[in-house]
Amino acid sequence: MVKKWWHRSVVYQIYPRSFYDSNGDGIGDLQGIIEKLDYLSELGIDVIWLSPVFKSPNDDNGYDISDYEDIMEEFGTLKDMEFLLKEAKKRNIKILMDLVANHTSDEHKWFIESRKSKNNAYRDFYIWRDAVDGKEPNDLGSAFSGSAWEWDKTTEQYYLHLFSKKQPDLNWENPKVREEVWSFMNFWIDKGIGGFRLDVIELIGKVPDRGITGNGPRLHEYIREMNENTFGEKELLTVGECWGATPEIAKMYSNPQRNELSMVFQFEHIGLDQIPGKEKWDLRPLSLMNLKKVFCKWQTCFQNDGWNSLFWNNHDLPRIVSRWGNDGEYRIESAKMLATLLHGLKGTPYIYQGEELGMTNVRFADISQYKDIETLNMYKERLEKGYKQKGIMEAIYAKGRDNARTPMQWNNGKNGGFTTGTPWIGINPNYKLINAENQIKDPDSVYHYYKKLIKLRKENEVIVYGDFELLLPEDNQIFAYTRTLGDSKIVVLCNFYSNEAEYHLPKEYETIEELLISNYKNIVKNRLRPYEAYMYRLP
Ligand code: NOJ
Repeated sequence: MVKKWWHRSVVYQIYPRSFYDSNGDGIGDLQGIIEKLDYLSELGIDVIWLSPVFKSPNDDNGYDISDYEDIMEEFGTLKDMEFLLKEAKKRNIKILMDLVANHTSDEHKWFIESRKSKNNAYRDFYIWRDAVDGKEPNDLGSAFSGSAWEWDKTTEQYYLHLFSKKQPDLNWENPKVREEVWSFMNFWIDKGIGGFRLDVIELIGKVPDRGITGNGPRLHEYIREMNENTFGEKELLTVGECWGATPEIAKMYSNPQRNELSMVFQFEHIGLDQIPGKEKWDLRPLSLMNLKKVFCKWQTCFQNDGWNSLFWNNHDLPRIVSRWGNDGEYRIESAKMLATLLHGLKGTPYIYQGEELGMTNVRFADISQYKDIETLNMYKERLEKGYKQKGIMEAIYAKGRDNARTPMQWNNGKNGGFTTGTPWIGINPNYKLINAENQIKDPDSVYHYYKKLIKLRKENEVIVYGDFELLLPEDNQIFAYTRTLGDSKIVVLCNFYSNEAEYHLPKEYETIEELLISNYKNIVKNRLRPYEAYMYRLP
């Protein structure tokens, strides 16, 4: 496999609105990120994925962009962004911009033009259709509840929006749209960014009239065209958000021979807590056996023809310690265990802000404290459909996107040190206990554990390129595996539950040459305590 710098990198995702507020307006900003670069550098990460910072009316917190070449006022200016790039570079940190190009904001100048008249030069930048029998052209739904079609009185046609009605979908079949996208991508590449995270990229090849949204027929043609016209020769990290990716599809994107992307985010492990065919809010009990199956599949499917991303969290997902871990008695142990499992695997790991502290989900008492459009729309829709309010709130506590969006917990002072003003969304009340300042001081903290895992990857080629093999396949409490590269072999053992687990490994795995990391002070032979995890090198 041709080696790439991003094979050995660790990425840290920043959700700027909730990271650090430097000017007291209650909203995180670019200067705030600059102030925290030393924190990130100390943690050891190589790359920052910045959730969108472009001009936006914030219907979906920046995922609705009204100008791709300017910065959202609350976050700062283009100068601040240039300064951030410069300061990050000083610390050898690259920055990925979040490219939201499936749709724009309805306040983008292209859409303002497009909706003016049927013969406007920008009309064909978006997807407009006549009514059918006085109704929507078909039953495509928006990810944020209701129909994906919105009636526009001015020209008496519907436009398509797979997300909110303030996020009209771009018409990628129009070559002029593609040229515009290449142009603003190059604008940012010229500023020295390290790459892109490509928002819902699998949707750009949609054929709405045939009900096709993800993985449309021209999707990969567009991505290759993008590669050729923008980052192709530049050694940038590009990661596509692909909810519908199977290993075969992921190879199409990430096989280096195909000149598309570096890697994709696939979500098969994330979907395991959801009833198949239902909405994300309809929970199903977790099964470790299924998790093992999914990870094994993704760890073994690529030879030299693809690359994995590794993640538990992002700004759309609940906190992992509250899903697969235990955010009560065993919060620290389980946060470390989940980190061990992931950071021992093959692929590029992504850490979402606060994950390195073991931050948890939040339970706001009242729906008025929630800000996320998806959550608020679902709440309204389900109430109207007759669901019980209590059940809806439980679903939000488990899966709502605001779980990830409460402010970063920096210290135990006012607002967790996030802002001196009034935070745009409430702080998780557990900030007094869980915060960066405490954890930096405590060598046994989740923070120091992450720091160590990042360092281990840097120092051990076997963690980067070693082959994966599952151990104890039938054990329904322990997730264990090996990684092997030449003569070097490591073993990872993780207990996913709060009861002890006994295990027996074949003889050749018994001798510990070097204990690389563990979340208990000592280790006990053939036994894992609640959420215990460790990684060791074999002789
Ligand atoms: C995926 C993003 O991660 C999410 O936050 C956003 O709402 C949708 N795409 C729409 O852009």
